[in-house]
Amino acid sequence: MADMKLEGVYKSYGDVEVLHGVDIDITDGEFVVFVGPSGCGKSTLLRMIAGLEDISGGDISISGERVNDKPPADRGIAMVFQSYALYPHMSVRKNMAFGLSIAKLGKAEIKTRVDAAAEKLQLTELLHRRPAQLSGGQRQRVAIGRAIVREPQVFLFDEPLSNLDAALRVNTRLEIAKLHQDLQNTVIYVTHDQVEAMTLADKIVVMNGGNVEQIGSPMDLYHRPANLFVAGFIGSPKMNFLPGTVVSVDGSSIAVQVAGSLSGTVTFDRPGNSCSSGDSITLGVRPEHLTAAGNELSGAVEVVERLGDVSYIYLNLADGERLVIAESGTTEVAPGEKIGCNLDPASLHLFDADGKVVN
Ligand SMILES: Nc1ncnc2c1ncn2[C@@H]1O[C@H](COP(=O)(O)OP(=O)(O)OP(=O)(O)O)[C@@H](O)[C@H]1O
Ligand SMILES: [Mg+2]
Repeated sequence: MADMKLEGVYKSYGDVEVLHGVDIDITDGEFVVFVGPSGCGKSTLLRMIAGLEDISGGDISISGERVNDKPPADRGIAMVFQSYALYPHMSVRKNMAFGLSIAKLGKAEIKTRVDAAAEKLQLTELLHRRPAQLSGGQRQRVAIGRAIVREPQVFLFDEPLSNLDAALRVNTRLEIAKLHQDLQNTVIYVTHDQVEAMTLADKIVVMNGGNVEQIGSPMDLYHRPANLFVAGFIGSPKMNFLPGTVVSVDGSSIAVQVAGSLSGTVTFDRPGNSCSSGDSITLGVRPEHLTAAGNELSGAVEVVERLGDVSYIYLNLADGERLVIAESGTTEVAPGEKIGCNLDPASLHLFDADGKVVN
């Protein structure tokens, strides 16, 4: 088992710096998800942990030992890639056993490990087949099986579900969650899908442009985003943002006027140490913290998306801003209607002009 520490990790390709000093602490057995938009450096960071990329600056240690210069095979790590990278001419059993034969494990030991992994991943019936005779989901399970049999200290996954269709993605996601409950290994999992991040992670690392924006549990990030980027990235549909101005700050509360739409001011029970009256701010409110009743905000309904249990009402406010409201599936609100809506004052977020949360 393994904990891991990343300290001031930098990466440059030639003159271009793509990771700008990353610090992450991972405890033994934790399921950690790196999430962020395309190109933010997730795979690069994962490959540096695996030892497949040089480290331009900083340190990576596993179980207290600095591994910067350790070859990949000696780091106690197994990596599962997005493209399964199976050997096409080998059976499932051979694919899963290959790494162990290279490592010169005994035949009996290899058989025991492969059979156990196959059982866990429901591959027992498929052990004699070749990759071409498997579905995408089955191939991905073989790729995971090949990692399991090595009994690594740490599993690294790079977008393992992105080649699967929607239904299979949900199934395989559940399998990975169960597998982690079972094995209790340390897992680092890369995805750009915030739903995968929310459902799998003990700890989420939100990355953006080569920097870490915030690290926390899924609920932490959802309820206490540190900045506009995290607030907008975590949650679907996205948090609504409305521009506004601070009207007054009295040391225990902040009053905010929201860009002409709101009939009055909104008061936040926070000291507001980092803001003063006249400052531009952004008010953040999640769709489920708006109700399509009341008169705090008003606008014209553009679209109603009915998903069954929930309906999303897209509202155009008078001053051109747009809001999404989550209502029960049975709402009778219809496109074209003019409606009012209220905010849940306890669940609002406030961000300063730099995008940092205001406390
Ligand atoms: N071998 C390379 N040489 C030069 N630049 C690279 C190389 N590999 C990656 N990059 C750059 O580094 C940045 C981070 O890439 P990376 O693959 O880590 O992103 P990512 O977060 O995994 O994105 P995605 O979600 O699209 O997989 C990108 O700007 C990319 O163009
Ligand atoms: Mg990537």
